Amino acid sequence: MRITAVINQKGGVGKTTTTVNLGAALARKGLRVLLIDLDPQANLTAHLMMDHAQVRSTTYDLLMGNAPLADVARPTATEGLFLVPSAGDLAGAEVELANEIGREYFLKDRLRKDDERAAVFDEVLVDCPPSLGLLAINALTAADEALIPLQAEFFALQGMARYLEVQNLVKGRLNPNLRLGGIVICMWKGQANLSHEVREEVKKSFGEVLFETVIRQNVKLAEAPSAGKTIFEYAADSNGAQDYEALAEEFLARRGVPKPTA
Ligand SMILES: Nc1ncnc2c1ncn2[C@@H]1O[C@H](COP(=O)(O)OP(=O)(O)OP(=O)(O)O)[C@@H](O)[C@H]1O
Ligand SMILES: [Mg+2]
Repeated sequence: MRITAVINQKGGVGKTTTTVNLGAALARKGLRVLLIDLDPQANLTAHLMMDHAQVRSTTYDLLMGNAPLADVARPTATEGLFLVPSAGDLAGAEVELANEIGREYFLKDRLRKDDERAAVFDEVLVDCPPSLGLLAINALTAADEALIPLQAEFFALQGMARYLEVQNLVKGRLNPNLRLGGIVICMWKGQANLSHEVREEVKKSFGEVLFETVIRQNVKLAEAPSAGKTIFEYAADSNGAQDYEALAEEFLARRGVPKPTA
């Protein structure tokens, strides 16, 4: 089981879209994938489950130890893709955890505690809220690596600098194994000079960490959530589906998993 925190403190950069569709692409390749909605906005949950009646226990219950992972993780319409759903109550967790001893370790403890059950999953993707508060710190403490969706905009690198400060603190104090696993540019506007300039800057600063794959701006990706579908269910021939498929291949290649020959 490898845990990836999909994180960027800037809002609306493509964290949730990447979590859903990278996760779905990996599941379609036969991996068992768990998505965790760690955002009180619960966009990931809404994206994958239109019927809120299906939500029995949530990320909040998992963190607080009210329910084990096996009960909280729900199957989705995509085979092999599971979701720990979130709800607004998660906002309260940040406050409740604030005074607990070991407050940064709650997610890690829940995921790593029940090793046998957790080992059922090959990949865990954690969709973080747009902040570097206690929930995001819990994700970084539990994670093997961070995956940063980035928009190719002027302030993107400034945001990265702030993020890296926090990542280094977490690495130094809480999780020595944490590494920056990848940066993926989302909502790519290929016609804009600025996009190319920013991409070059990111490449210069981060080299190989930057994924070659860019996720192009694609209206189908913006429409899919309202249909409660992944991009592969909603528009299998779209650029969005192609780009997330390519990202999944690159993601797995970095894991050293050979491409299927068939
Ligand atoms: N490649 C894309 N092309 C077009 N629209 C996109 C693309 N990626 C994401 N979007 C849309 O942009 C908006 C923000 O994306 P998303 O919700 O994934 O960002 P986020 O980083 O999770 O936001 P938040 O910080 O609020 O959690 C959504 O409406 C989403 O549907
Ligand atoms: Mg989001």
